[in-house]
Amino acid sequence: MAVHVILRMGDPRLMQVAAPVVDFATPELNRLIEDMFETMRAAGGCGLAAPQIGVSLRVVVFGLPNGSTRSGCDFLPDTVLINPTLEPLGPETAIDWEACLSVPGLRGKVRRPNRIRLRAHDHQGRTIEREVSGFEARVIQHECDHLDGRLYPSRIEDWNWFGFGAELEQRLTSNEAVGAAAQGCAGE
Ligand code: NI
Repeated sequence: MAVHVILRMGDPRLMQVAAPVVDFATPELNRLIEDMFETMRAAGGCGLAAPQIGVSLRVVVFGLPNGSTRSGCDFLPDTVLINPTLEPLGPETAIDWEACLSVPGLRGKVRRPNRIRLRAHDHQGRTIEREVSGFEARVIQHECDHLDGRLYPSRIEDWNWFGFGAELEQRLTSNEAVGAAAQGCAGE
């Protein structure tokens, strides 16, 4: 396994539409997934998309270790999504903090559909289909944006709530500050 350099906003490789995975359960794909988890953990993130390490494939990993607390979520099992597609379920949206390992130090409030239907494949090509809501739905939407060359700042609606973590925290109530202080918030 290897920890990779995470590309930062401005690198053109973060703006590309990634290609679908065609062959599953190959040594190359397994190594990519292992490296992505390793890189995500080394950076203290809870999600990572392959384009963030310069691999233009539609692969996403995420997971939140037991006992973490981010936006009210304290655990997400390690998950691999390959060739994911998302469909909003209903008109309900939610606004919450996001951060991104490719946009270090910054965070912002982003509005997203609160419930989505997720369809994807796992690393062996098995079909995943489920409904997801709340924090997990936000993480998945953030990561899937990476596969289409999109970073969360392009979704900011209120620029008063986009900036560096320390500066934002000074303006927040204590409750909000806890969420914002959690390294990375949703996404990454
Ligand atoms: Ni990100």
